[in-house]
Formats: sequence, C-alpha cells, structure tokens
Amino acid sequence: MKKIFLLAEKLSNYALHSNLFSDIIIKLQTEKYSSKGVLTVAYYFNEPSHTFGEYLLVPGYSSAECIPAHVSLKTPLVKYKKGEEPAISMNIPMVSAIMQSVSDDRMAIALAKEGGVSFIYGSQSIESEAAMVSRVKNHKSGFVVSDSNIKPDDTLADVIALKEKNGHSTMAVTADGTSNGKLLGIVTSRDYRVSRMSMDTKVEEFMTPYERLICGNENTTLKEANDIIWDNKLNSLPVVDKDQNLMYLVFRKDYESRKENPLELLDENKSYIVGAGINTRDYEERIPALVEAGADVLCIDSSEGFSEWQSRTIKWVREKYGDTVKIGAGNVVDREGFRFLAEAGADFIKVGIGGGSICITRETKGIGRGQATAVIEVAKARDEYFEETGMYIPICSDGGIVHDYHITLALAMGSDFVMLGRYFSRFEESPTNKVIINGNYMKEYWGEGSNRARNWQRYDLGGAGKLSFEEGVDSYVPYAGSLKDNVGVTLAKVRSTMCNCGALTIPELQEKARLTLVSATSIVEGGSHDVVVKNNNME
Ligand code: IMP
Repeated sequence: MKKIFLLAEKLSNYALHSNLFSDIIIKLQTEKYSSKGVLTVAYYFNEPSHTFGEYLLVPGYSSAECIPAHVSLKTPLVKYKKGEEPAISMNIPMVSAIMQSVSDDRMAIALAKEGGVSFIYGSQSIESEAAMVSRVKNHKSGFVVSDSNIKPDDTLADVIALKEKNGHSTMAVTADGTSNGKLLGIVTSRDYRVSRMSMDTKVEEFMTPYERLICGNENTTLKEANDIIWDNKLNSLPVVDKDQNLMYLVFRKDYESRKENPLELLDENKSYIVGAGINTRDYEERIPALVEAGADVLCIDSSEGFSEWQSRTIKWVREKYGDTVKIGAGNVVDREGFRFLAEAGADFIKVGIGGGSICITRETKGIGRGQATAVIEVAKARDEYFEETGMYIPICSDGGIVHDYHITLALAMGSDFVMLGRYFSRFEESPTNKVIINGNYMKEYWGEGSNRARNWQRYDLGGAGKLSFEEGVDSYVPYAGSLKDNVGVTLAKVRSTMCNCGALTIPELQEKARLTLVSATSIVEGGSHDVVVKNNNME
C-alpha cells in the first residue's frame, strides 16, 4: 500500500516539475506517511484555479436608462460599518501598484486627477518616500511650481536657450534663479523681439518688473486665481508668499483642462489623495514619517499576507493611531487568508499571488492561485464576514490584468477595485526611462522581486535581510502615451460592459453579473479569426 502512495507522489511531483501540467491542480488524493509513520493527507482543492482570460460575462437586460453616461464607478477604498460611509472612497476602481517602476509622486498626481489612488513605492529610503507623499499633498491642482526660471542679470540669449530646452515661453525672474526665489519679474515672448534686440541684453531691461505684475498670495484659491486671470486678461498669475518669494504660477491655458477632471480625488483640504507602501520590518520608523507627510492610506507591500508579520504591523498601527491611520494588507488568495487579515484589523485586503506580469513566483516557488478563482473565493469570504459582523472590508484584485475587460471581470467577481502595475508603467507619467527598441518607444518595467529593485522586505519571511533569489523580472513594455487618454478609453469599455449587464454601479454589477467559463476553442473564437488583420493598433 505504502509503495502505491509513494508511486502516486512521485508521479504528481513529476507532473509538477515537468511543466507539462503546471497549471493543472492534481486531484489525486495522495496519501503520505510522515517520518513518524503517521498517515498524513495534503489538502487538495476540488477545482482547478482559473484566471480572468478563461471567463466571459453573459449580457443581461439593459433598459434605455442604462447608458455609459449614467454609470458611477465610485467604490470604497477602506472598510466601513453597515449603513455608514467609508472614510475614503475612490471615483474609479483603479490603484497603481506599489512599485519603483510605477508609482512615484508624478503618477500619483496624474491618477488622482482621474479619480484613483497611487501607492507610492516603499522600496526606497523613508525620507524619499515621505518626500514623494509630501509633494503630492502639497501639489495644488492648477498651481504649478515654475520650472523655467532665470536671473535678472542673465541675457536674452539665456532666455532663448531656456525656452528651447523647456518649451515654455513664460519664465519667472527670481533673485537667485530658483523656482522659489524672490520674484523680481516675469518674461514672456511678448517682452522681446529677437530680430531687434542684442542677444546680450540683460533680462532686467526687458522683463515685466514685479511692480507691474498682478500676483496672488498664499491664500488665493484656484477659483480666485482663475477670476483674476480672466478679469485682467492675463496669461498667467504668479502666486507669492508674504516675503515676495515665488510659490506657484497659475496658467490660463490650464483652465480648460482643470474643468476636464470632474472625477479628481481630493481630501477635505483640496489636496490629492495618495497612498504609500510599507513593509513589516521598519514600520515603526516609516509609518510615522508617512503619516506626518500626509499619506491618506497605507498598504503593507508583501508577496504573501497570511503571516504573523502583517498582524503585528496592523496591531502596532491600531495601538498607536487607533482607526485614524488606514492600512491595507495582503496578498492572500483564499478564505483563510482573508479572515486572518480581517480579524487582524486590515482596512482593505489585496488578493493575488503569482499573477503579476513581471512575476516569476509561481515558477520559482510553486505557490499561487489563478487570479479569478482567488478573487471569487475571497469576495465570498468578504460577504460572509460582512453578514456576520456588519463590517464591509473592500478587496482589491492585484496583478494579472492584461486586457481592459479583465478589470470588469474582476469587479463582477467581487473586487471593489483593482491594482495595476504593467498597465500604468506604459504611460508617460511612470517614473521609468522611455527608450527606443527596434524602432518602437518602450518604457522599462521591473518587478519588486527582481535584482534591479532588490525589495527584500517584500519577500522576507524573517531573518534573511537580503534577496536570496529573484521572484520578478526586468522588462520593457510598449509606451502608450498619457495616463488620462488611456484610463479614459479603459473606463469607457468598463462602463459599456456594465451597461450590457444592466448595471449602473459596481455593487449592481456584482449582483447582476452572469459569468461563464469558456473552452479553449471559444477563446480562439473570441479574437479576430479567419481574416487577415490590416491594423491591430487599437489596444
Ligand atoms: P501587473 O499589473 O500584472 O504588472 O502586476 C503588478 C503586481 O505584481 C504588483 O501589484 C505586485 O503585487 C506584483 N509584483 C510586483 N513586483 C513583483 C515581483 O517582482 N514578483 C512578483 N510579483 C510582483
């Protein structure tokens, strides 16, 4: 008998290692003898785990009212009690991944403008992460820190050179030539004529001096700034502090684009909402710095969340800050993992192991679960927990979103929002280099578990203090342009599919969605087939 079990075990190991069946859960009930001769039985899930690409939504009835313009994508970011409002909600169900190659302050501002939240990467020094958070919080929508500055004794030649370099025709003249120096004047292209003036002419001779400028002050709101610009027919309004130091410029040309961000996500002080990644090692120093810098929400960044390290970290936050500091945890892929983090006090819970585009965790360590199956099970656990306790803990599907419709599927399966790395890394606003590879523009994108990021804290199970082996790769992704344009198209598709399912809100989608697994043959049928495609640039 024992021999038969050993043979079955060998066969299943062969199947796992041979890669032939790496995606198939072996359903054999392999019984084993432990070293003490006691019969032990591993737990086998009954169903194979599936991913998004294996599912489709079956449309339901849509009324004439059910049109994309009526869809609301508002969704909770942190937990709330039945009948109450969450402390933070988002206007779109998208957050950007806690990664060096994805989420810095620039990404955070761009995404908050569209209604989502970035989690600034934690694999950097506490000071630089806090500085990024602080830059987002201090960024006043419509108020721009001047990036073209010049000194009064610089020359017209310097003005022309700066204009060519930055492409901006409005320059602040400050005493020390910095963006926050004492403001002495402004130069625009209306102040000089290259054909009539010597290139040696000093800036102070042709600038519009401070005395003739109309300026805003520290308390000027965006609305007031816009009114001053319109009333005085200005192109820009410098904003100075009480010592005449330049703080910001507000531009007339930005007025229209400001009106174009109806979903932007602001706190009660009209600053953008921003998240920050933390780890379970240096949290006692990192969290106070991030809270001080103004982070609205934290998230433990770890490849595996079902661990004592996470509960210790959350406990520490609750003891020090009560419920005032919001903290998400993860990642988990099943009911037990969810319950553990829910009971530990997490404000939201991330789902997903091994599905990320740059992730090689499944290949390296053989752990993980198909993303769709993980989301479906955790969403059920979330609803069960809500029934039992009256506490709704949002869940986030993290990693593995390849096509825009995967977002809709993740939401339909119960996710409150999704976290994306590869998706955002392709945009102008991501922190990485744009390079030309084989004549095409690409952006760099690397995993937190790659040698390049060396984020050992994300993978450490205690003691190692270094990255022992890689769990992520360093890669290129095709450059895709601006975040705003791409998010606009993606969400247009999500809204449209929701309408096909007769849903105007995310909870309604979750209630009404009807999902079907598809066979391998119908996946082929789903793409264009049996035609010669002329142009495939749409996605
Ligand atoms: P993507 O959207 O498919 O690119 O997946 C992004 C997600 O992958 C992140 O939010 C992380 O959860 C995960 N991730 C980031 N870096 C690594 C890595 O190096 N190895 C494994 N997973 C990673």
